[in-house]
Amino acid sequence: MTKEDIRKSVREGYAKVARQQCSCCGPSPSCCGSTETVDTIAQKLGYSEEDLAEIPEGANLGLGCGNPVALASLKPGETVLDLGAGPGFDCFLAARRVGETGKVIGVDMTPEMLTRARETARKGDIRNVEFRLGEIEHLPVADNSVDVIISNCVINLSPDKPQVFREAFRVLKPGGRLMISDTVILRPLPEFLQQSVEAWVGCVSGAMRKQEYIDTIEAAGFRDVQIVKETPFSLDCVLNDPMARAVAGNLQVPARKEVEDRLASVLINAIKR
Ligand SMILES: C[S@@+](CC[C@H](N)C(=O)[O-])C[C@H]1O[C@@H](n2cnc3c(N)ncnc32)[C@H](O)[C@@H]1O
Repeated sequence: MTKEDIRKSVREGYAKVARQQCSCCGPSPSCCGSTETVDTIAQKLGYSEEDLAEIPEGANLGLGCGNPVALASLKPGETVLDLGAGPGFDCFLAARRVGETGKVIGVDMTPEMLTRARETARKGDIRNVEFRLGEIEHLPVADNSVDVIISNCVINLSPDKPQVFREAFRVLKPGGRLMISDTVILRPLPEFLQQSVEAWVGCVSGAMRKQEYIDTIEAAGFRDVQIVKETPFSLDCVLNDPMARAVAGNLQVPARKEVEDRLASVLINAIKR
């Protein structure tokens, strides 16, 4: 798989998800298996009922693996950048926290996701959020211009993670914070998953080893890199959820538990000094 093959597959996978009409937010049977709605899953990931009530309908597609906004200590007036904003879930939450004097920029490389996110912002008359088309390896954002970077289950999808963290460092102001949620590998995955493009698109095989991930953030220049929360990874949303299946294609995992034990979801905090 070349870097371009990976980007193309990731973009195609998330374009399919963005085009789905199911909002997943209603009381009807959920998109995420037979019993759980994306809201229930979001609550398990650390979002409160108030968070979920605040965001406009259609912004939560159940694509995250944590809640970076909760721990980002956002203040009114700050500028926030969301790497891989998708349908805008965390952007809309952050927009409430930074208020009218602040600003949120969501970057995503999938045009269909941007169309969906922009439409949601328009319908909700949310004016302090802007969605920009771009790759997180080449951010369409000025140097030293952002107070806080958030990202939720995206960096594992990048074929060039060192470049993502170098770009994050470039655009943050001195003293700026990085608060990201992502999947990491605790022990090597089975060979068949390592080679699977579907598993990469499904946020599994693109993940880095935990220590390598931390080292990569430090190598980009960040200081005080800490894992503030670590939770078991669940394949449920990749395998049970029709939305996720649209991303992960026909990914077959015979021994789920065996695979889940090799992965974790982490929330990581770092500072640009
Ligand atoms: C798993 S979804 C997460 C979306 C969002 N953060 C959320 O929690 O709802 C991954 C998103 O990242 C975007 N993405 C993946 N790789 C990217 C890259 N290299 N540059 C920009 N966007 C990327 C995809 O288009 C998709 O919208």
